[in-house]
Amino acid sequence: MSPAARAATNSRRAPKPVGAAEFVPGGADLGQLRAAAADCRGCDLYRDATQTVFGAGPAHAPVVMVGEQPGDQEDLRGEPFVGPAGRLLDRALEEAGFQRAEVYLTNAVKHFKFTERGKRRIHKQPSRTEVVACSAWLASELDLIAPDLVVCLGAVAAKAVLGPSATVGSLRGHLVERPDFRVTGTVHPSSVLRAPDRHAAYTEFLADLGYIHDSARR
Ligand code: URA
Ligand code: SF4
Repeated sequence: MSPAARAATNSRRAPKPVGAAEFVPGGADLGQLRAAAADCRGCDLYRDATQTVFGAGPAHAPVVMVGEQPGDQEDLRGEPFVGPAGRLLDRALEEAGFQRAEVYLTNAVKHFKFTERGKRRIHKQPSRTEVVACSAWLASELDLIAPDLVVCLGAVAAKAVLGPSATVGSLRGHLVERPDFRVTGTVHPSSVLRAPDRHAAYTEFLADLGYIHDSARR
């Protein structure tokens, strides 16, 4: 751990966010990265969350899908996409023809951000500062997995992968060439759950996943 990271961890006063980069071990494999992420204090989100939710899936998946942040159930179970949005995504992936072994699932931000309303924890969108603070984990995952295709699920993921001017609209049905991989995107699965016409939204989501399935080199 770097001196800055140690200072942030030990300080009795509210620590200044140092960013995840201070906590990312050099030369690590994916398992070591996951273990190190459990102790990340790169921003304040670790304070109220239960645990770090790292990515999950095959170490050499050709497709990496990036969500926003873990939700309530992910926070409790420590696995990405295991709540309602994850179940919808699983169903759509299967319908679009994906095998589980082809897809690694992760998030732009690895801790759950929420506000409490009574007994419920309501998802709160991470700030740009938090997305940037957490970006070293995602960058390291992408480095190690070296996928062919990175799929941004929603605007937060699009901006985390491509920068603040990226939008979902400009990624749907398109491939953006980057030096290390290609990037495409679709809406976040929880937006399908919230859509007034859920059936229509699901049909469009499935069409995007079909395009993504056909675009992926295996
Ligand atoms: N939404 C996300 O973006 N990621 C998860 O892991 C779960 C819900
Ligand atoms: Fe670290 Fe990311 Fe969690 Fe912030 S959200 S503490 S940067 S893992």
